[in-house]
Amino acid sequence: MNLELLAAQAQVCTACRLAKTRTKVVFGEGNPDAKVFIVGEGPGEEEDKTGRPFVGKAGQLLDRILEAAGIPRESIYISNIVKCRPPQNRVPLPDEVKACTSLWLNKQLELIRPQIIVPLGATAAEFFLGEKVSITKIRGQWMDWHGILLFPMFHPAYLLRNPSRAAGSPKHLTWLDIQALKQKMD
Ligand code: URA
Repeated sequence: MNLELLAAQAQVCTACRLAKTRTKVVFGEGNPDAKVFIVGEGPGEEEDKTGRPFVGKAGQLLDRILEAAGIPRESIYISNIVKCRPPQNRVPLPDEVKACTSLWLNKQLELIRPQIIVPLGATAAEFFLGEKVSITKIRGQWMDWHGILLFPMFHPAYLLRNPSRAAGSPKHLTWLDIQALKQKMD
């Protein structure tokens, strides 16, 4: 098995109800040998149209954050908990998360074998930690997931809704987090 083959299989997935409303499956993209695997929640409108992860407003902010920290987007791998857009961008339901991650995300992780997984936002963090979490409490903490470092951060869509850069603001904390991530990668 390799990533291209897995991606091709995912394109025709009908394992959950999101298959009925999606335009394109958003499998993920990036460096197959990435040290860092960023995991969002699920595709939004732009991602659903283009088939690429994090290309809308939140994705553009993520690009700027990565660039400011000196992390080329091409050096990492980016995907989502669910590969198909939930209607109206609702949070993916537990059965959708279960079906999708067991078919696709877990296999992507096995193939890429990253050193660090960065869940963006509570939905992604909850998948790895197996329980409801407050992203505000756990972001910026180094944790373990089956021997892989887990480093949750705020979701960029949350930063778009909270634009302050004041000390202690989500944006400020994210700037500290991305620098800590970069340091760990070096
Ligand atoms: N938000 C996400 O969680 N993932 C994307 O791919 C885009 C926006």
